[in-house]
Amino acid sequence: MKIIKVANYEAMSIEGADHILTQLIKKRLNVLGLATGGTPEGLYQILREKINEKALSLNYLHTVNLDEYIGLPADSPASYHYYMQDIFFKHIPIPKENTHLPNGYVDDVVEECTRYEELIESLGGVDLQLLGIGQNGHIGFNEPGSPFNGRTRIVDLAPSTIEANARYFSSKNDVPRQAITMGIKTIMKSRQILLLASGKEKAEAVKALIEGDQSEDIPATALQGHPHLTVIADEAALSGVTRTFSSV
Ligand code: PGA
Repeated sequence: MKIIKVANYEAMSIEGADHILTQLIKKRLNVLGLATGGTPEGLYQILREKINEKALSLNYLHTVNLDEYIGLPADSPASYHYYMQDIFFKHIPIPKENTHLPNGYVDDVVEECTRYEELIESLGGVDLQLLGIGQNGHIGFNEPGSPFNGRTRIVDLAPSTIEANARYFSSKNDVPRQAITMGIKTIMKSRQILLLASGKEKAEAVKALIEGDQSEDIPATALQGHPHLTVIADEAALSGVTRTFSSV
């Protein structure tokens, strides 16, 4: 695990965008795994500017997102389809048909999970997966208790996740109770993982990721076993960690 300590959210976003941009320029990424939430927003804003500044062609690139709520149509402003379009895809020259998310607005959600897992495999797997981390240590929507060998599947959202994500809905009652998420095994098969964390709310989860014992109670600890994991975290998110490491 490589840990890069930065001062704050902005520095995390710059560093994270640079990490991905460098590899896009070298055409090292064919399949880029993406995440949603507050954490990667700054990264997407910087990355889309740089992609356009450098006039990168992304015709060959496929993206696969980690998760999506069940029961929200793609045009609902709280859906992850909408988020990705709004914050990233509509600003960059990538063919729309190359941008993939699980579809939580279908009749047969179980079949959709199988389709999505097979899609990732048919694309040749994920070269680099971007991740945030939940206050409870979740990755994607793999909540505490998720099996480390889990594949793309239907999950119930933890009460703390519903609480944390209520800010994107008119009320807590409107937050869907279920989602489709890539499983931990699906995530672990990515060739590289880049996890971003900012803010003291994440300090406990980040401490567990870096210094804790591996346990399905804290899903992010599965990542300790990944050979190419980079964590970019700010001082607040790293405030519980006692180990020392390089800063930028
Ligand atoms: P956040 O969510 O970026 O909105 O804090 C991260 C996550 O839940 O993985």
